[in-house]
Amino acid sequence: MLICLAQKYRCGSVAASPFSDGDLLGKFYITTPIYYVNDKPHIGHAYTTIAADVLARWHRLRGDDVFFLTGTDEHGEKIAAAAQKAGKTPKEFVDSIVPAFKNVWQKLDISNDFFIRTTDEQHERIVPLVIDKIAKSGDIYKGMYTGWYCVPDESFWTELQLVDGKCPECHREVKLVQEESYFFRLSRYQDKLLQFYKTHPGFLSPKYRSKEIINRVKDGLKDLSITRTTLKWGVAFPQDKKHVLYVWVEALCNYITALDYPDGQKFKTFWPADVHLVGKEINWFHSVIWPAMLFSAGIEPPKMVFAHGWWTMDGQKMSKSLGNVVDPIEMADKYSVDAFRYALLREMPLGDDGDFSEKTMVTRLNNELAAELGNLLNRTLTIAERYEGKVAGKPELSEALDVKKIDSLMEGLDTFGALNEIFAFIKAANKYVNDKEPWKLKGDELGHVLYNLLEATRIIGILVTPFMPGTGEKIAAQLGVPQGTLGDCKFGAFAGKPKKGELLFKKFVNASGKTHAH
Ligand code: MSP
Repeated sequence: MLICLAQKYRCGSVAASPFSDGDLLGKFYITTPIYYVNDKPHIGHAYTTIAADVLARWHRLRGDDVFFLTGTDEHGEKIAAAAQKAGKTPKEFVDSIVPAFKNVWQKLDISNDFFIRTTDEQHERIVPLVIDKIAKSGDIYKGMYTGWYCVPDESFWTELQLVDGKCPECHREVKLVQEESYFFRLSRYQDKLLQFYKTHPGFLSPKYRSKEIINRVKDGLKDLSITRTTLKWGVAFPQDKKHVLYVWVEALCNYITALDYPDGQKFKTFWPADVHLVGKEINWFHSVIWPAMLFSAGIEPPKMVFAHGWWTMDGQKMSKSLGNVVDPIEMADKYSVDAFRYALLREMPLGDDGDFSEKTMVTRLNNELAAELGNLLNRTLTIAERYEGKVAGKPELSEALDVKKIDSLMEGLDTFGALNEIFAFIKAANKYVNDKEPWKLKGDELGHVLYNLLEATRIIGILVTPFMPGTGEKIAAQLGVPQGTLGDCKFGAFAGKPKKGELLFKKFVNASGKTHAH
């Protein structure tokens, strides 16, 4: 029997990894933020969800038991205001927007295992159980709240934090709120959090963002106002039903309500989450408030909060007023789903900020996807079509590939580094074609080169699948092999029945016949 060596994976569903060297398989629970439904999904939402999807798919490829959660955040003042503006009740309003999120995820090949809505009966029923636990720990008391509230961000600020009297985060108007409120004793968790960060160095990720959080926590934590009496659209505070829970406190609970906390099998199998993937602007809620709530409720905290960077568009912040908000459906229709997924993850490491431009997107599509990846498959299949002998030989190209390294990059959420490795291998395979000049070869010599190319493209097909699921499928279909797992990413005997199909990627040509966007 295998022993659970690391705390990293839960025992129970343990099996040998594809590399069978003591590395163990297990479960992998990854989440995205639940998105506000006051607006339709844009490239920022798509980025987080695609990145989480790639990681979830990678872990499935390894053989891990994966649970991938996304969903929508539907309560709070912001949504109530948007509903009123649309002349609908809040529930009618959220019901009318949620399909847009579900559709976009389907369109972008997102493989979430569950979609949580904070208006789900399950969520509304379980949140009070969590709050009860916190109350039983003596961490909730009644007080008077005075502060500045930014409705669009659903965030509270002190007078000192305001910049020119406006929200320091989004620079919009804030309003003065003064009312009776219940407070969560966040201040009690300062030492415990600092200790936790120290003993769990991977929790605050990426590392270069951890300092900011640690310093802020060291500066001191103020108790958090967690209820409102002025707002009706939310989950009632179980200890005093005149009050409604502050939307952030309720929303954070989605990560466990979706698993049927406390007794559900999913909770037992998948909690604690392996990764909460979030944008950097909501890092504080996930890295400080959420673990403090969990400590108080006696629930294990997640293993990692990874705060990724932000996209700008052609160098500018995306905003409705600038009219430069990128619609993911439009991008996928114009350039293909896989080219869009690829372009987002190829641009920069997950933690960094990046700038999106259609011009770069087209360059990547034309050069990296069509001219390198697509061409490699095309050349390989062209040779296969005109060769009738035995496909066999020594694996030469295998030296240019280190699957274990790619796997460990992915384990560390380095999707950028992993893509670099995969595309370096694609380049090496194309160079191999150029160097070997198979069009000049015959017989066994040609069979040998072809063997290397077929095995290389088969393995590339597997490795790109999490990033570009449709492309992985097409490669396997054209090579006439079943879709493999990570364990199949080694050179063996090629047993496929290759048949050339459609080109994997078409170069983008604009109306004037140029291969760029503008
Ligand atoms: N509802 C809260 C989250 C609650 S989680 C318990 C929320 N929703 S949101 O709709 O505003 O989504 C914010 C998230 O969308 C960011 O954290 C990030 O994941 C993604 N992005 C939104 N705009 C973005 C960019 N411009 N660039 C990258 N990602 C961004 O906050």
